[in-house]
Amino acid sequence: MSKFPEGFLWGGALAANQVEGAYLEGGKGLTTVDLMPTGEKRWQIAIGNIDTLTPIEGEYYPSHKAIDFYHRYKEDIALFAEMGFKALRVSISWARIFPNGDDEAPNEAGLQFYDDLFDELIKHNIEPVVTIAHFDVPVNLVERYGSWRSRKLVDFFETYARTIFERYKEKVKYWMTFNEINMLLHMPFVGAGLVFKEGENETQIKYQAAHHQLVASARAVKACHEMIPDAKIGCMLAAGQTYPYTSNPDDIYKAMEKDRESFFFIDVQSRGEYPGYAKRFFKDNDLTIEMEEEDAALLKNHTVDYIGFSYYSSRTTSTDPEILKGITSGNVFGSVTNPYLETSEWGWTIDPKGFRITANQLYDRYQKPLFVVENGLGAVDEITADGTIDDDYRIDYLQKHVAEMGEAIEDGVEIIGYTSWGPIDIVSASTGEMKKRYGYIYVDRDNEGNGSLKRMKKKSFDWYKNVIATNGEKL
Ligand code: BG6
Repeated sequence: MSKFPEGFLWGGALAANQVEGAYLEGGKGLTTVDLMPTGEKRWQIAIGNIDTLTPIEGEYYPSHKAIDFYHRYKEDIALFAEMGFKALRVSISWARIFPNGDDEAPNEAGLQFYDDLFDELIKHNIEPVVTIAHFDVPVNLVERYGSWRSRKLVDFFETYARTIFERYKEKVKYWMTFNEINMLLHMPFVGAGLVFKEGENETQIKYQAAHHQLVASARAVKACHEMIPDAKIGCMLAAGQTYPYTSNPDDIYKAMEKDRESFFFIDVQSRGEYPGYAKRFFKDNDLTIEMEEEDAALLKNHTVDYIGFSYYSSRTTSTDPEILKGITSGNVFGSVTNPYLETSEWGWTIDPKGFRITANQLYDRYQKPLFVVENGLGAVDEITADGTIDDDYRIDYLQKHVAEMGEAIEDGVEIIGYTSWGPIDIVSASTGEMKKRYGYIYVDRDNEGNGSLKRMKKKSFDWYKNVIATNGEKL
């Protein structure tokens, strides 16, 4: 007997800006991610340092063509169907629907594209799971309103959400509001289109933008429940428990505080109110968050149905300045090196047991179904002389993580599905590279945008197919 419930949603997860390309086709407007090149420049922009809001001539922007999913989605979905996918998580690009974000009417060509995409999924019995905002904001909203600094974005977002609920209400029953909403604190341009001027109080701006996103999220939840009563709508957290480096109570407290930085968002989205520790944080840091009178009731009455989360790594923290010197990256959240764990080629800590711990922690806290909407290993893949791609390291990572997810289910944690990240190779969100691959399917494209875009199955393709066919019994 499988540990995984019947109907468990096995599949993969993608984001529009990392796969579609066709960045100005079909009437789409420019989005924030279309201004992000690769490498260190990308990182500077990610944290809010950007000089111009138009693409620079001669610069290479990976989102502009990405893996050309916009034109090749049928071929890709056929491969996902061959693996037996039950679900595919995709995002809708806001700027395909409202090219400027504040347009009077939606763009029909954009709406039609997602209609066709969802039809293709449904044809293959693959459930579409849709993220409304995954790291892309129409650039016009940044230029005219300062993006999520402005309360106006709440209305624009609600109009966008209502438009897509109305259009896709027969086809899409799983929704998510903001991808990794807590990423706003770490990559404010990526998470919320925030650009900072010298001398500004960035913390104040970030938390004000966060409030706007939380209100927008609650408005979307309300609209979804009204318009598609049989749908489920969730939040989405970049998760991964923080461990204290030692049993020193100062380390323990710091680890708790680090986790609360992220839980803050989900506490509001799932429990419906600002937690006491957040109010204290605002007071201690002299932050004043402007809220409208109706916000408290809106947040309280329109909480999410499930907790979507990504898990790549656990995190470790310390109060000891010596230990803090050993920081590794790890999905943007800096972490002290954990002596018990290995890291990926990109310095992300590999911790399968941490997956079980994180799932238990989230379930204990929220008591709502969990949906694992991202997990995977970014690695360099080589094509052998006989044309195979033997990604045993990826199989090893996934096998151990899926096994721990099974343990969490046996612990009593309710998990409704698992969509691994990047089932086909895509552009990396943090670095813009193609070399950092997550897929079961290889895409012939390199960091500079060269390559035929041809798709090839890796060894992990058959492995995952078998996992799904046996409902997680054969890893
Ligand atoms: C998550 C994001 O943070 O991690 C994805 O939701 C992202 O968009 C994924 O791609 C993996 O990160 P990266 O930087 O390796 O692409």
